[in-house]
Order: sequence, then structure tokens, then C-alpha cells
Amino acid sequence: MKKQLYLFYLLLSNILFAQTSVEPHRPLFHFTPKTGWMNDPNGMVYYKGEYHLFYQHYPDSTVWGPMHWGHAVSKDLMRWEHLPIALFPDSIGCIFSGSAVVDVKNTSGFGKKGGESPLVAIFTYHNFEGERANRNDFQSQGIAYSLDKGRTWVKYAHNPVIKNTGKRDFRDPKVMWYEPTQQWIMTLAVANHVEFYTSKDLKNWAQTGEFGHTEGSHGGVWECPDLFQLPVDGGKTQKWVLIVNIGNGAPNGGSGGQYFIGEFDGKTFKNDNKPSDILWLDYGTDNYATVTWADAPNQKRLSLGWMSNWQYAQIVPTQTWRSAMTLPRELGLVNTHQGVRLIQKPVKEVEILRGDKNTLSKQVIASTLGLKTKGKGQEISLTFDLSKTTASDFGIELVNSKGEKVWIGYEKTTQRFFIDRTEGGKKDFHKGFAKRHYAPRLSKDNLLKLSIFIDVASVELIADDGLTAMTDIFFPNEDFNKTAIFSKNGSTFLEKCVFWQLK
Ligand code: FRU
Repeated sequence: MKKQLYLFYLLLSNILFAQTSVEPHRPLFHFTPKTGWMNDPNGMVYYKGEYHLFYQHYPDSTVWGPMHWGHAVSKDLMRWEHLPIALFPDSIGCIFSGSAVVDVKNTSGFGKKGGESPLVAIFTYHNFEGERANRNDFQSQGIAYSLDKGRTWVKYAHNPVIKNTGKRDFRDPKVMWYEPTQQWIMTLAVANHVEFYTSKDLKNWAQTGEFGHTEGSHGGVWECPDLFQLPVDGGKTQKWVLIVNIGNGAPNGGSGGQYFIGEFDGKTFKNDNKPSDILWLDYGTDNYATVTWADAPNQKRLSLGWMSNWQYAQIVPTQTWRSAMTLPRELGLVNTHQGVRLIQKPVKEVEILRGDKNTLSKQVIASTLGLKTKGKGQEISLTFDLSKTTASDFGIELVNSKGEKVWIGYEKTTQRFFIDRTEGGKKDFHKGFAKRHYAPRLSKDNLLKLSIFIDVASVELIADDGLTAMTDIFFPNEDFNKTAIFSKNGSTFLEKCVFWQLK
């Protein structure tokens, strides 16, 4: 979209949006674009009190098209302010996924003496003409900078900074500052592996290594990588985490995210686990392109994913907009009986959404127990005692007056968590959408903890203090207005339940 046209469109859509803001399936507390199409989160960076969220955006339609970088900022990760589109397609190509950094030392030279630190965005250029002409070099890496806290962006005059030498899938640069060598490191997804590049100035890049040809899952093309270090169990030992999203082959079908734990020496990554080991970030079908914020306060590693799946993202039944992001999550590493594993929990800021609170404790649940919720946004935290449980499965049931239902819980007989959307409302838009999804349980603890975040059209299940995550979307024909704890084929013992109405 041309810039002038876009400003007119912005005005018009604001007027229209004001009139049509009551829409089915629009979430209460998850980020969505005002209008139009959204996929991957991009360029996430924290600078001077603001979390920036850019995202793959096609403003002209609710399906994927020539990509722009949409933009929003937040002070608390919960309340977002929409800003004008940050990056538009240009003569080199449209703007695919990438990252952003604060160039504190002005290594790029984009900054002015004594002025703001440049924010530098590093993204993939995708050239449709090249692709249509069946060339192999239609993706390359470009950069742009902002000297006004991300409000306006200037593309670098000598883009692209990394040309393509004939690799068809060559994209999604994630850049970080590497202290030991005082250099920038880029992790780039290239078909079935990642490549590492270094640079002193964000403009000149040299490849230093690659990883992954025969490691992890290869059910689809590798996309949207991320690389960062985290302490294990909050202690002195640090490990590197390499996130790699894959376009297909996730545990419950379609696109999903995997990760590797290992070492990074400034040049390349070494996996601590067996090449055949696959570690999944999330077992639901709706958490893709997860990457993390650069420079989040207090050394926190905060992630965000696109809450959809390439299998059906373009045909889900929303009208003026398509797709939401997951809740931002805080990542950590813990030792388990299977080795070091990633844990994730919604960020602490979720607490600002909490309204009315209710608690229950020490109860036998023999069939169902209704919770006093008012529907829509809910956070439910449950602890069950498995040693006093005879039920085959138990958990939370969402119901509306049309009789549509979603179940979230645990199957004791198979030791798996599940989210079941087979009867959750609209499903005909995609064969295979109405399904029960599973996740294996890693913990062996008799106390089983479920932390559940329910929005109008999604649920995020965080089990065993973050060891297992499942994210699923659904589209009820009417909002769910009843929530109950259920127990099937026997009883379960509820140690504790706290639930909040979310605002
Ligand atoms: C992942 C992805 C990226 C690409 C972008 C295009 O969902 O395919 O690899 O950069 O989306 O919108």
C-alpha cells in the first residue's frame, strides 16, 4: 500500500472501526490488529519504558499478502497502543519477519552525537517478481533504523545487507549483541537449518557457522529462529536456547515451535541432546513463530507467539481482522529427570487484569462443580491430588447456552494433558479443526497443577509450573458463559482452586 493512500485508509478505518467494534471472537486480553491480516510477531524490543511489538501485517485484506510491519507499543505488555505501519514494501521486496535491537554504542553510525540510540530493525526482503520468475534468490536481509523511539523508520540506502546466493528459504533474521566478542550475532532460518552470521556494525555480515541439518524435527521448513542464554534453575549455570519454528509437522499437526538446549561459542551452536530428540515449545495447535523480546527489563526473557496455525489461519471465522497473539510469557530453564527443559508462564503483568477472585479447597469432585464466573476472560489455577483420584479424566469445561463445549484437562489413564475443541462451535471452515489435542506429562509429581487462561476464542494451558504448555483457539457461536470443574468415570481430589475474572 502506498503511504498517502494508507493515511487516508487509516482515517477511514478508524471511523469504520468505531462503528463495528463489537465483533464476535475479538479477544478481551490478547493482542489483535485493529483490522486486516496479522501473522508472526516481529522486531520485539524494549526501549525507554516501552515494549515494541511489530508484526507481519497485510492491511488491505484479512488474508496473507504483501507483508508490512504493523506496530504497537505497551508499557505493561497487556494494554497496547496501535501505531502507524512501521515498514512498507519497497522496490526490493515486501517485508517479511525479523527482529530489532537497540544500538546503544551506535555501531551502525545511524545515531547522531548525543541523540537517541538508534533502533535498528533487521528483516527479510521477499521479492515476489523473483519468486514468480522461479529464481532462487528472492529473499535477502535488509535493515532500517529509527531515531525517534520507533515512531518513524528510514531504510538503509545500501540494502540488502545480506544478499542471497541461491537459497530459496533464507529468512527471519534474529539479531543479538554478543558481549564476549563485542559483535552482533544473527541467527537465520535457511530451509532445513539455521545459519549464524556476525557483524560489527549491523551492515557488514559474515557467516560463521550453521546448525540443524539432521537435528530435531524436519516435518516442515525451518522459520523464525531465536537464540539466547538463560540460567538453569535460576542459578550460576547458563545454557543456550535455540528456538526454531517449523512450518509443518508439529505434534498435533501443522505449524509449531521446537527448541534446542546447548552451547553457543559466538560462531555456532552445539546441541546437548541427541539429534533425534525433539523438544516442543507448545503442544497446542495455535502457537507459532514464537520469538523473544530484546533488552526486556531485569534480564527477563519474554516470548510471544502468533496464536494460529498455517493450516487454517487464513480461513478462521473472524471478519474485519485475522489472528491474535498469545499472552506474553516469561521463559526459564529447569533441571528435570529428562534433562534441562524450558518452562514458560504468562508474564507477571497478567495480574493487572485480575478482577473478582474466588477460591475453593480440599473437595472431592465426583462429576461437575460449577464456578461462579461471568464468562469471557478467566484465569483458573487448579491443583489436583492424583493419589486420591480415580477419574479417567478431569479438568475444566466451558459451556454456552447453545450447548457448545470446550474441555481442558488431564487424562490420568494415558498421562496426557488435553484441550478438546471437537464441540467448541464453528468448525466447518477446516477439516480437522475439531479435534482433541494432547501433550505428554513430564512431571511425575502426585500434585498436578493446571493454570488456565481463557479468552473469548482461545485457551492457554500452562501445566506443572510451566513444564508443559498448550495453546488452542476456538470459535463458539456464542460466548461461553459457564465454567465448571469436571471429573469423568470416577472422582478427583481438588486440593485448591483459585479463579479470577479477567478484565
Ligand atoms: C512464518 C513466516 C516467515 C516469514 C513470514 C511471512 O510464519 O512464513 O518465515 O518471514 O511468515 O509472512
